[in-house]
Amino acid sequence: MSRATLEKDPRDVASMFDAVARRYDLTNTVMSLGQDRFWRRATRAALRIGPQDKVLDLAAGTAVSTVELATSGAWCVAADFSVGMLAAGASRDVPKVAGDATRLPFGDGVFDAVTISFGLRNVVDHVAGLREMARVTRPGGRLVVCEFSTPTNRLFATVYKEYLMQALPRIARAVSSNPDAYVYLAESIRAWPDQTQLAHQIADAGWSSVRWRNLSGGIVALHAATKPQR
Ligand SMILES: C[S@@+](CC[C@H](N)C(=O)[O-])C[C@H]1O[C@@H](n2cnc3c(N)ncnc32)[C@H](O)[C@@H]1O
Repeated sequence: MSRATLEKDPRDVASMFDAVARRYDLTNTVMSLGQDRFWRRATRAALRIGPQDKVLDLAAGTAVSTVELATSGAWCVAADFSVGMLAAGASRDVPKVAGDATRLPFGDGVFDAVTISFGLRNVVDHVAGLREMARVTRPGGRLVVCEFSTPTNRLFATVYKEYLMQALPRIARAVSSNPDAYVYLAESIRAWPDQTQLAHQIADAGWSSVRWRNLSGGIVALHAATKPQR
C-alpha cells in the first residue's frame, strides 16, 4: 500500500491516489457522512458559472466534481496528475487531461473560472499552484478553492480532531482500497493553514477580492477570489 508524507513528493502523491482510485467515490461519501455532495454543489454555486464559461476543475480525480460543475451548462475540463483517478472516472462524460497543478498544460488566460476541490492541500508547493491557476485564468476570471479547514467552534474542533485521528483511519480500513492514504489525509488536514492564513496565501499568489465561507461548521471552507484586470 502507498501513502504520501507531509513532504508531498509529487510521485508519492500521484501513486497514493492511483491506489485509492478504485473505491475513491464510495470512501469519500462514507467518510464525509454524505456531506461531499453538498460541498460539491456549494462549490459550483460559489463559482457563478453558466453556459458561456470555460472552466478548469483542477485535481479533479475521478471527475465527480467536474460533472457537478457541468450541470451549470459551462464547458468543464477535469485535470489531474493521477492517471488512475482519471481512469476510475472514465465513464463520466467530461473532457479529462493529465497534468500537474504546478505546470498546467494550458495557455495563459484561457479559462473564465478555475476551481480545485480537496486538491490544493496535496500540491507540493500550493502557492505555486495558486499562481499557476491565476496564469491560466483570464483577467476578471474567478477562483474557488474548496478545502478542509478549521472548525470554528472549539468543542466541535476537539471532537473533529478525534474523528480525524482515531475513527477515520479505522473506517478507511473497512472501505478504502488504500487505507494508509487516510492516515496521510488526517495528518495533512491538521497541518493545513486555517481560513485566514489560506486567504493571505491566495492574495500573495496574485488573486484579488479574496473572501471565504465556511461549510459544515468550518470542516470545509470555500475561498473565492478574482483575477485582477490588467
Ligand atoms: C482528494 S482528491 C479530490 C478529487 C475531486 N476534486 C473531488 O472533489 O472528489 C485529490 C486529487 O488531487 C490530485 N492532485 C494532487 N496533487 C496534484 C498535482 N500537483 N497536480 C494535479 N493533481 C493533483 C490527486 O491526484 C487527486 O486525484
